[in-house]
Amino acid sequence: MKALVTGGAGFIGSHIVDALLGKGYEVRILDALSEPVHPGGAVPSYLSRDAELIVGDIRDKSMVSRALDGVDVVFHEAAHQGYLPDYSRFFDVNSVGTSMLFEVIAEKKLDIKKIVIASSQAVYGEGQYYCPQHGECQPNPRSIERLTEGLWEHSCDICGSTLKNIHAVEKYVNPNTQYAITKYTQELIGHNLGRRHNIPVVCLRYSITLGKRQSFYNMYTGILRSFATLLTLGKQPIIFEDGLLQRDYIHIDDVVSANMRVLESSDADFQSYNVGSGISTNVLEFFKQISEYMDSKIEPLMNGEFRVGDVRHIVSSTSKLEALGWRPQKTLINMIADYLEYLNKAQNLEDYFVSALKDMKNKTAVMKSKK
Ligand SMILES: NC(=O)c1ccc[n+]([C@@H]2O[C@H](COP(=O)([O-])OP(=O)(O)OC[C@H]3O[C@@H](n4cnc5c(N)ncnc54)[C@H](O)[C@@H]3O)[C@@H](O)[C@H]2O)c1
Repeated sequence: MKALVTGGAGFIGSHIVDALLGKGYEVRILDALSEPVHPGGAVPSYLSRDAELIVGDIRDKSMVSRALDGVDVVFHEAAHQGYLPDYSRFFDVNSVGTSMLFEVIAEKKLDIKKIVIASSQAVYGEGQYYCPQHGECQPNPRSIERLTEGLWEHSCDICGSTLKNIHAVEKYVNPNTQYAITKYTQELIGHNLGRRHNIPVVCLRYSITLGKRQSFYNMYTGILRSFATLLTLGKQPIIFEDGLLQRDYIHIDDVVSANMRVLESSDADFQSYNVGSGISTNVLEFFKQISEYMDSKIEPLMNGEFRVGDVRHIVSSTSKLEALGWRPQKTLINMIADYLEYLNKAQNLEDYFVSALKDMKNKTAVMKSKK
């Protein structure tokens, strides 16, 4: 069996490549080695030499055609991610790139047995909430006026009471960034064209994924990257808002096992699944765990700053995927330990930190509340 992994030189894709090689697949990678994840377009040293690498763009029809030759299954991980206002690029790479895969498959009448598409928890936008009086709702992003007042929590549009976050389930999506909209279009394109051409498609909505090889520049991995780098350099990390923002972090090994599970299960076909830990961790708890693990006494700086556009709480329900027999196995400490081992081997840590900070300042609007 032959597998194609688009974006296979990246963080998640490269781990999928290794898992497929371990299962005896012949593996081909199509990856543009894009900046900033791959500085200078260099092939990452962690990439297995047992996989065939085609350096090319998912939007390039001839490259996609070459990459799909003789392939049985596809894992589509290549994507444009980021905060910059290059709005059209999200659609170009993510939506057009996904359509291109299906266009080539349809034109060449390729016999593809399954396509697994990387989607994101971002499709939930602000997530799902509950008002004791008015029931479930999906709030809009918090206004700058409220954030400036230090009113961090979502409130009910009808009665104004504080809303309670509930685990996001697959049926309610509410994407509200260009990235999230295009991750959702990837799902729509995949399910629509998959059915039309009789190719089983599965979409996986990853929560924030952590572990070895995660890019020093990936927007998702900011919390672990910034805490780990700053504490290693003896500098003080900044915690935004009141540090109580909740997320469910997931270990890369659990993301890979989810991909393998849906590959092997026909029950998963034409479904979208959350791939998260389902365990809510707030930023202060995350900081405590990493500080204890690193035996650091450095206190974080919390001065009421907030990032415009940050989602307050988002935690995925995992019950749909668990019904297929998948369970996340790794803890937050496993994620921290693996990342620190990776970080400690990195050269020029100070350089990464300076450029990552510059990058964050360029891309992230930070404001200060009156509190
Ligand atoms: N890392 C996370 O926490 C997370 C969370 C949710 C969803 N995702 C999704 O998972 C997938 C993999 O993410 P990742 O964290 O491994 O990112 P990554 O940046 O490490 O890997 C993405 C890879 O895609 C390649 N790529 C980008 N544009 C391309 C193009 N036009 N043509 C071909 N290759 C291209 C990059 O060179 C890179 O190697 C993405 O689809 C992302 O949207 C990631």
